[in-house]
Amino acid sequence: MSQLRQKQEAARAALEWVEPGSVIGVGTGSTVDAFITALEESRIPVDGAISSSETTTQRLRGIGIDIVDLNYAGDIDVYIDGADEFDPHRRLIKGGGGALTREKIVAEAARTFVCMVDESKRVGVLGAFPLPVEVIPMARSLVARKLVALGGQPIWREGLVTDNGNLVLDVHNLDLVDPVRMERTINDIPGVVCNGLFAIRPANVVLCAGSGGVERIS
Ligand code: A5P
Repeated sequence: MSQLRQKQEAARAALEWVEPGSVIGVGTGSTVDAFITALEESRIPVDGAISSSETTTQRLRGIGIDIVDLNYAGDIDVYIDGADEFDPHRRLIKGGGGALTREKIVAEAARTFVCMVDESKRVGVLGAFPLPVEVIPMARSLVARKLVALGGQPIWREGLVTDNGNLVLDVHNLDLVDPVRMERTINDIPGVVCNGLFAIRPANVVLCAGSGGVERIS
C-alpha cells in the first residue's frame, strides 16, 4: 500500500472521533488534507473547527466548515492531526509543515488528541526527524548557539515565515531519550516560541496505518 493510501486509511479511521454537531480541532499537513477530504465525504455535520494554520483554514472553509476562534470556544473534545514521528508512548515530533505552535495550542485545548500516521512515522526513540523549533526572528542566532550547546545541529529553514511571523530552526542529532526534559529545556531558551516535541502532552490515540490495516495505539 502506498504512503498516500496509508494516510488516507488513517484519516478515515479518525472520523470515529468526530461527533456530529461538535467543534473539532484540526491540524496541518498532508494527512490532515486526507482527513478533510474524508470528512467532506462522510457528511458528518460539524458545528465548526479550531484551525492550526492558515492553510488548514482555507481547506476547511473550502468544504463549508466555519472557523471558530479558540478564545471563544473553551476546551474542545477532540484534536485531529498528523505527526512526523511517534514513539511507543505516543510522544511525537511535529512541525515538519511549520505549524507547530498553533498545533500545540489546539492540542492543549483538547480533551483527546487523535494522531493519524502512516507506518513510516514509527520510531523506538524520537529524533531521526530533525526537531523544528519556532523562534522570534531577532533571537535566531542566539537560540541556534544554545541548541548547539545542547548537542544539536540547528539548520535555519530559510524562506519559511510561520503564520505567527517567526522563523524555524530544524535541529539535527539531538539526544531525545528523555523528550519531556528536552521539551522543557528548549522551551526555557529566551526567544523560543515553541518546539515540535509533543511529549509533555502526548497524543491520546495514535492511528497508525500500515499494510495490515490501521493499528490503534492508546
Ligand atoms: C505540520 O506542521 C506538522 O506537524 C504535520 O503534522 C506533520 O509534519 C505531518 O505531516 P504529514 O501529514 O504531511 O506527514
